[in-house]
Amino acid sequence: MCGIVGYIGSRSATEVIIGGLQRLEYRGYDSAGIAIYDVEAGLQLRRSVGKLSNLVARVTHEPAVGTIGLGHTRWATHGGVTEANAHPHRDASGSIVVIQNGIVENYLELKSRLLEQGVPFQSQTDTEVIAHLLAYHYQREGSLAPALRQTMLELRGGNAVVAFCIHEPDRFVAARLGNAGGVVLGSAQGEHFVASDVPAILDYTRDLIFLEDRDLAVVSRDGIALSRLDGSQVARPTVTVPWDPIAAARGDYKHFMEKEIHEQPRALVDVLRGRIDHEAGRVDLEDLRLGDADLRRVERIYITACGTAWHAGLVAKFMIERLARVRVEVDYASEFRYREPVLGKDSLLLTFTQSGETVDTLAAMEQARDQGVPSVAIVNAIGSQAARVADGGPIYLHAGPEIGVASTKAFTSMLVSAYLFAVRLAQARGTMTPDQIRPHLQALVELPGKAATIIERVIPQCEELTEHYHRASNALFLGRQQNYPIALEGALKLKEISYIHAEGYPAGEMKHGPIALIDEDLPVVCIAPRDDIYPKMVSNIEQVQARHGQVIAIITDGDDFLPTRARHTLSVPPTIPLLQPVLTAIPLQIFAYTMAVRRGCDVDQPRNLAKSVTVE
Ligand code: AGP
Repeated sequence: MCGIVGYIGSRSATEVIIGGLQRLEYRGYDSAGIAIYDVEAGLQLRRSVGKLSNLVARVTHEPAVGTIGLGHTRWATHGGVTEANAHPHRDASGSIVVIQNGIVENYLELKSRLLEQGVPFQSQTDTEVIAHLLAYHYQREGSLAPALRQTMLELRGGNAVVAFCIHEPDRFVAARLGNAGGVVLGSAQGEHFVASDVPAILDYTRDLIFLEDRDLAVVSRDGIALSRLDGSQVARPTVTVPWDPIAAARGDYKHFMEKEIHEQPRALVDVLRGRIDHEAGRVDLEDLRLGDADLRRVERIYITACGTAWHAGLVAKFMIERLARVRVEVDYASEFRYREPVLGKDSLLLTFTQSGETVDTLAAMEQARDQGVPSVAIVNAIGSQAARVADGGPIYLHAGPEIGVASTKAFTSMLVSAYLFAVRLAQARGTMTPDQIRPHLQALVELPGKAATIIERVIPQCEELTEHYHRASNALFLGRQQNYPIALEGALKLKEISYIHAEGYPAGEMKHGPIALIDEDLPVVCIAPRDDIYPKMVSNIEQVQARHGQVIAIITDGDDFLPTRARHTLSVPPTIPLLQPVLTAIPLQIFAYTMAVRRGCDVDQPRNLAKSVTVE
């Protein structure tokens, strides 16, 4: 949830930057800081923990003057919420400052290399690694832009970085790697801006340039010079956004759903922020009000939710049972409330809800409370009803507002939150040691980059698929184990926005009924990543092929067998099997989206549906 704002011009940089950061407050943060430069006053760093008002008070007491500067709101990832961990971060000489949005996946490796070289560290953040690395390359390159280029090439993971050096006081440099952090540049007469999100700079300009993956920008008072990380020149269009805040929020995208699909790499970073500690091999869920002793007492978990959130709950069952060895039952919230469930005192209710206002989900929570059972809500909307009534605490997704009726980024963030919860439970109950947890944390931090790869790769492939299937009236989705709920989710996505009748089935059940539907007109989407159950999925695919069904297989990179069997394949990078649903869900979202667009449907507001269902 980090926010980035930078300014160069003739106004007070402090005012512009703090104003911009205030506009990003909705994203959530736990500390903030600015670095402002002036020839006489030098580089002035002001940082504080907590609300922006604390930073404002600090700056009122101790002003920072100058017309160039960088500012940041931090949501902790590596290291606690302290002033030392707040951005901007400096190199050892104090002449370079850096702000960052993202996660440096290889920061431990880079940090130990720098420590061996005797570099002193002031914080526990991955960002400080960037500052020192940048100083190292600056010494060799003698200039900030090539030094940042070399630095970015050493980082793994999605990252947006903005840097300033006192030896080049007429510019700052911004770069983007991957899709976990957006970078938007704004232009006006004699002044320029950088931000992580459009609203931060809309008061000053509507002319925006969006950096793409591996772009680098040198920003001065007179202009913006763009290049690629390989040093080649590049041009990006200037997009003029309207003042209408809704249209502005949609930016360059045709639909909110499209935007939200693209926001997933960043949402996946945000859901992990501050919650994983690689060094200790631990997960910390800051909002959870249940301690280790409470979690050890839990013998059974009831998951209740609706729609897409219920699908997340079905995947969560696999995660919790496998990692924490606790029994889990999953119910539709609308059924749970009327089936008079017998909830023991050793139970916990876990709900998933994007809006936090779904009436059936709230009723299930109320029922648990009436029976003295604590509830935990995995929820996106901050301060929503579900977040307030969850006595065990909300676990916020921090995915940002989801406007499209069809849930996308909230769903994949729910899956990651469920995983964090499962590991947290396993940790408390001693079913996983820190050494066993560490590889899972590594797999989690690699998800945003893998999600970005899928989005980039699969959109054109799905556009091509729609040419074959946009006239279909039915579709079947098949998956097994933790990918069976993804088959349900793929079918729900397709039906809600493209109005094609679709069913999701566990692949092994196909022969007990749905096989009768298969003919040459039926697209059958088969989720078949390389895991233990892969050979079974292969035989299901053969059965569909034998009946002339049109197989679209979701496969793992490197699988060269299924492309010889399925009519079409969409490939996703490998990860550990329990996290595979986070990745296999994305091509299905894109398939539904491109089909709906091809069929001319109202993607963001499909007929008869509401974003938050507050009636029975
Ligand atoms: C998702 O695409 C749907 N529009 C719908 O199923 C939704 O997930 C469901 O209504 C639950 O909403 P909630 O997450 O806000 O509780």
